[in-house]
Amino acid sequence: MKKILIYGGSGSVGSEVARMLHDKGHPLHLVGTQEERLSAVADEVEATYTLADVRDPEIFGKVSQDAGKELGGLVYGVGTINLKSIRRITPDDFLEDFKINALGAALAVQASLSALKKGGNDASVVLYSSIAARHGYSLHASIGMAKAAVEGLVVSLAAELAPAIRVNAVAPSLLDESQLSQGMLENPATREAIIKSHPLQRLGKPQDIAAMTVFLLSSQASWITGQVMGVDGGRSMIP
Ligand SMILES: NC(=O)c1ccc[n+]([C@@H]2O[C@H](COP(=O)([O-])OP(=O)(O)OC[C@H]3O[C@@H](n4cnc5c(N)ncnc54)[C@H](OP(=O)(O)O)[C@@H]3O)[C@@H](O)[C@H]2O)c1
Repeated sequence: MKKILIYGGSGSVGSEVARMLHDKGHPLHLVGTQEERLSAVADEVEATYTLADVRDPEIFGKVSQDAGKELGGLVYGVGTINLKSIRRITPDDFLEDFKINALGAALAVQASLSALKKGGNDASVVLYSSIAARHGYSLHASIGMAKAAVEGLVVSLAAELAPAIRVNAVAPSLLDESQLSQGMLENPATREAIIKSHPLQRLGKPQDIAAMTVFLLSSQASWITGQVMGVDGGRSMIP
């Protein structure tokens, strides 16, 4: 069974991906910064793990060493949502969002290239964009910019790494049950308005995103590369 490396393996989406892959019998290696949170998921899914902060470019070599010589897939589930008006946002805010969402994803793939190539046919990389990369929402300048960079990375790497490695992204709308989105959902009126903006009349669940991720990692997706899959309750396509 293919071994899968999951950055953000203790997150809302990453931990669900880990559970689904564990149920299918995949060996796993997880990455995060908080040991208690990461080791709890690692115990549950019988994974090994590395404590590492993706803002430090030096960690990627160590992570890929710990993850092993052969990988069938890589999931980069680390992300931010820092909402600020363009008047208040600082250069450091922009750089932080870019480092965590885009540069970290690129360095993670770069460090695992040889393991992914040795992992057999049809290795697969899954990154995360956001509905905000292509749809305009106020206060989203920094995250929209960083996630648009992820989408550029997906098509470039898909071209460069084909046919050995497929590279795709999932672009979620807002998820319930995620630390990342809690700030945006605290106000009940705002929460209701956001729910109503989705044709399917609910917020996303981490499982919605994890299911698409697991599909993209699988051989059932072996003719899919360079794609950004919207998993967003219809919000991106239906006004
Ligand atoms: N949640 C949403 O509404 C939403 C919407 C659109 C797009 N997305 C995207 O979907 C992806 C998954 O989101 P999520 O909701 O699962 O996020 P999450 O619950 O906040 O999980 C983030 C994960 O990344 C780890 N992490 C955070 N900062 C890190 C750092 N500097 N270095 C290493 N690991 C770090 C966290 O572990 P530690 O806490 O241990 O560091 C955690 O495992 C992200 O790319 C996000 O941008 C989410």
